[in-house]
Formats: sequence, structure tokens, C-alpha cells
Amino acid sequence: MLLAYILAPALASIGLALIGYDGSYRKISRPLTKIPLPPPRYDSNISVEHALRVRRSIREYEDKSLTLEQVGQLAWAAQGITEKRYGFRTAPSAGATYPLEIYVVVKKGGVEGLPEGIYHYLPREHTLELLKSGDYSRELMDACLDQEWVRDAAINIVITAISERTTWRYGERGRIRYVHMEVGHVGQNIYLQCVSLGLGCVVIGAFYDEEVKKIIGVDEEPLYVIPVGAKKGGWL
Ligand SMILES: Cc1cc2nc3c(=O)[nH]c(=O)nc-3n(C[C@H](O)[C@H](O)[C@H](O)COP(=O)(O)O)c2cc1C
Repeated sequence: MLLAYILAPALASIGLALIGYDGSYRKISRPLTKIPLPPPRYDSNISVEHALRVRRSIREYEDKSLTLEQVGQLAWAAQGITEKRYGFRTAPSAGATYPLEIYVVVKKGGVEGLPEGIYHYLPREHTLELLKSGDYSRELMDACLDQEWVRDAAINIVITAISERTTWRYGERGRIRYVHMEVGHVGQNIYLQCVSLGLGCVVIGAFYDEEVKKIIGVDEEPLYVIPVGAKKGGWL
């Protein structure tokens, strides 16, 4: 029973791959430029208890670039694969259907050695693929009702949902409940990982959906925009 529960999404995704469906309703003309991310670290000097104790939403950041290691660590915390056989990830997912996609909007100078642009995270390869070049941080701030921390952050992580990956199995309940529960898990992972990396972030739910979709260039439901930058004064 457990095996069927686990295997169904995997078989479905193989089927979708065979008919050329790339999992996100995007017409992507590959090959896109890919940036392999440094492997994630599995330990640190910060305990999960400490991270839970001090975590706060942070809206002011040092004017400092992130490293590619930090970006990779955040992407891994959000949706990294932690079990190769069935592809289980850092965050739980209803029926392991994994409806969420992770995008990283990098502003000019936001990440050392990574040009400004919009990148899509590929969990299986632990790689970013470049979707669009350019600095979209101001446009994204406008789409987020002028919340300045979006413009000021080194990067913004945008999380979208492809609900059909979950509704084929759970019906409407998948769309109105499960995908929103899942994005909460991912948001908390990012908050805690930020503490461990000396970074600050805030989850943003107030934005114009259509504008965020247009900026990212995908027909997926945006759920969170998460500005991330170096935490002023570090975490005590
Ligand atoms: C679903 C959700 C949506 C949120 N949207 C925004 C937002 O649009 N802008 C913002 O600055 N903070 C946003 N926040 C962050 C909350 O304001 C913040 O979590 C709250 O004030 C408690 O502070 P803390 O996170 O530091 O404990 C949001 C939080 C959640 C859970």
C-alpha cells in the first residue's frame, strides 16, 4: 500500500516526461544555461532549537552579495532531494506529488559570480537554469505593492504551485488545502536555513498574482515571494 502511494506520482511523472511535458506548463526551448550549485552542507554550528528561538521576519539587509553556496543551500532547504530512490525532499508533500517550483530572482550584484536574472531550481540536478537575464528586483517590488525589502534584498525566492500535480490524486482538496500547506513548510525551512547562514528573510503573500507570473514568465500560481539578504548585525 505504502509502495503504491509512493510510486504513483513517480510513474505519473515518467509518463509526463515521455510525452514531453516539462512539469510546469512552460514552453521551454532548451538547452538553457545551467549553473550547477555547490553541494549542500548537512551540518552547522547553529542548532535547530536556536534557529527556532531567534527566527524573525527581516526586512532590512546589509548591502552585501550572497555567495552561490548560500543560494544553493537555500534552494536545497526549500526543495532539495534528500532520498534518491523516490525523490523525497526536505519539505513534506501530500502523496509526494511535489506541486511547488522554486525560482530565484537575482538582482545586479546580488550573488557573487552569478549574473542578474531569473533562475529556476532543478531539485534532481541541484542546478539553476537561467530563464531570463536582467535585474527584475524593482518590477517585483511593484508587483508586491511597493514593499521595499523586495527591491533591497540580494535575491528573492519565488515559490509557485502547479496544483494539477496534486489534484489529479486528491481533487479540489489538493488545490485549496494541500499546496498552501506545503508552501508553509517550505517557507519555514527557508527561515531556519537563513538563521543558520546569517541571512534574513520575510515571506510575502501580498502581491498581484498576474504581475508576478508575468515577471517570472510562467503560468503557475505564485504563492510566496521571499526576499533574502545578509542580516544586519548577524543573529544573536
Ligand atoms: C501568509 C503570510 C503572508 C505574509 N505576507 C507578508 C507581506 O506581504 N509582507 C511582509 O512584510 N510580511 C509578510 N508576512 C510576515 C508577517 O508579517 C510576520 O510573519 C509577522 O509579522 C510575525 O513576525 P515574525 O515572522 O518576525 O515572527 C507574511 C506572513 C505570512 C505567514
